[in-house]
Amino acid sequence: MAVALTGAGLSVESGIPAFRGNQGLWDRYDPLEFAHIEAFRADPQKVWKMLAELGGLVDRARPNPAHRGLARLEELGYLRAIITQNIDALHQRAGSREVIEFHGNGQRLVCLSCGRRYSQEAVVLETLPPRCSCQGVLKPDVVFFGEPIPPAASEKALAYCRQCDVLLVIGTSALVAPASHLPLIAKQQSARIVEINLERTHLSDTISDVVLETSASQALNDILEHLGR
Ligand code: APR
Repeated sequence: MAVALTGAGLSVESGIPAFRGNQGLWDRYDPLEFAHIEAFRADPQKVWKMLAELGGLVDRARPNPAHRGLARLEELGYLRAIITQNIDALHQRAGSREVIEFHGNGQRLVCLSCGRRYSQEAVVLETLPPRCSCQGVLKPDVVFFGEPIPPAASEKALAYCRQCDVLLVIGTSALVAPASHLPLIAKQQSARIVEINLERTHLSDTISDVVLETSASQALNDILEHLGR
């Protein structure tokens, strides 16, 4: 059974900047000021201004050949699940069905006071920060630094990494825990680790069995071509 772990590199070809590397989002915004839950609580309006800019890129983004290739691999029975660190829902829009949102989903908002959830379309972002009907501050339903991984997502991701024969690690710098622990968990139960990334990472010379130094869309196109599909 093959499983994929995906990161921001997968959505770069859809126009959404990655976090690290050239033109990375964290070069322009300090993650401790804009992506930590305590910073959000301290000044939600400031964080929402950055989110509104990033949100525009996500709204205009469309799935790219890498997203579609993974959906096709699932449809053909080669891929069992995708564990994604991305919050752009592009895997689902490409047709993937088993998608574990390890860092949540930016298409939903959640109230910091009462926990009520809203779909992003249902909320007008004219005044920032947006507020719940209880007047609590709304935040994207994504995992900020300093927040736990949703328990259901964590359990499913761990179960898949403990059972898979192959883990495709695509477009991630593998620097942020606990997502960065998943390839090692798969490796420890003898899964083959296939890394797809434009650059080498700390996994490349330690646990990756195969390293494809190419773009995600090129690699997925090649894999599907090789499978004769
Ligand atoms: N194809 C393949 N890989 C690519 C491509 C591409 N077209 N473009 C960039 N990459 C690679 C980069 O070389 C880099 O290794 O994608 C990786 C992106 O790394 P990050 O920007 O660190 O993104 P990610 O690993 O997903 O970050 C993990 O950090 O800030 C938090 O919560 C945030 O989910 C995010 C987490």
